[in-house]
Amino acid sequence: MVDSDKKAAALAAIVEVQDGMLVGLGTGSTAAFAIAGLGARVAQGLSIRAVATSAASERQARACGIPIVDFADVAQVDLTIDGADEIDSRLFAIKGAGGAMLREKIVAASSARMIVIADGSKRVDRIGRAKLPVEILPFGAAYVLRVLTEMGGAPVVRGDYRTDQGNIVADCHFAALDDPRTLAAALAAIPGMLGHGLFLNEVDAVYIAENGIVTRLERTGASA
Ligand code: 5RP
Repeated sequence: MVDSDKKAAALAAIVEVQDGMLVGLGTGSTAAFAIAGLGARVAQGLSIRAVATSAASERQARACGIPIVDFADVAQVDLTIDGADEIDSRLFAIKGAGGAMLREKIVAASSARMIVIADGSKRVDRIGRAKLPVEILPFGAAYVLRVLTEMGGAPVVRGDYRTDQGNIVADCHFAALDDPRTLAAALAAIPGMLGHGLFLNEVDAVYIAENGIVTRLERTGASA
């Protein structure tokens, strides 16, 4: 059921993709349904180009026949479609269980519109239960982990894992996430902290599927 809901959300979202668009492709099992769906539309004649947020998504997209361009040459993406680990009604999200949050954040920030796709298990009243991943430059690992610990993040380094950029990831769990904007600013201020999974400004809409029924939420304006 979860997989069919992931697919339902993905297929609803890709209806927004139109001829000529430069599309940002997310990472993870839900994003994979969107990539497969877009591949099918490309096979039927849809003309798009895409950038990928991970090597895995790039491989899948190329295998599906979606033309991929190098994001290093792209200043603006038209529409990005990506998954999330938690999303709330403010359209605040936690991302990065798949470790791609740094590229995902850059691509999302560059996008005129960013859509999250998710099954109903990702919908929460307030984000904060999911682990918050942080990408760390290996050179600064001990220092960044010390600061994250002092901040109450209880960081746990992911074993032998390396991101597509060769960096390490620590999963944090803060006891309370009452003020995500202040936390995001504090994380961003740590030298050696390269990216984190708090997406507070990037998401414009979310398609959530539950028991086959897809609901769309749009960002309506300023959120707390
Ligand atoms: C990867 C991500 C994913 O989008 C997020 O973890 C959701 O993954 P899935 O769709 O497999 O549940 O942020 O970095």
